[in-house]
Amino acid sequence: MAYTLDQFCRDLHDALIEKVDDESRETVRANLEKLLANPDFVAETWQEDTPPGKRVLYHDKDTDVYVLAHVQEEGKKGNPHSHGASWAIYGNATGATDMSEWRRTNSEDDDHAELVLEKEYSITPGLAQAYGPGLIHSTGHPCKSWVLRVTGTDLDTLPRYRFDAKKDKILETA
Ligand SMILES: [Fe+2]
Repeated sequence: MAYTLDQFCRDLHDALIEKVDDESRETVRANLEKLLANPDFVAETWQEDTPPGKRVLYHDKDTDVYVLAHVQEEGKKGNPHSHGASWAIYGNATGATDMSEWRRTNSEDDDHAELVLEKEYSITPGLAQAYGPGLIHSTGHPCKSWVLRVTGTDLDTLPRYRFDAKKDKILETA
């Protein structure tokens, strides 16, 4: 039987209620790929005319985890950021998320950040990646993309650690 959103949400609750760590996030990440492989779920969640932006599909009150459906516009590019103490899992239903992972090379106490590009890859349809607390990343969408995201809390209420190309030194080569 196809893996449904309801089942995904039940499993997410069970995986994260005891402890939130790399292992339980990996369980959710693998389940997210199973969910993306269900064409009925994709067809129910996004249509060609679904506008850009995000919708909350589920909020787990016990763990405060959110499941969000995004429509990302072609050419959208974000600055490097981390989600502070929280975490996120990104998966694509269509299109691609071009992901860059960055490493800060100077002290947290400095007034500016120096970032070095560590990894670059694309999250393509059916794939999901997990980002633990503090991991600095930036995303780009080379084409319109339907993205599913699971976040450890409502990230909009959390200070996001955004890095800024004017103030910070962002190096694309090590
Ligand atoms: Fe992010």
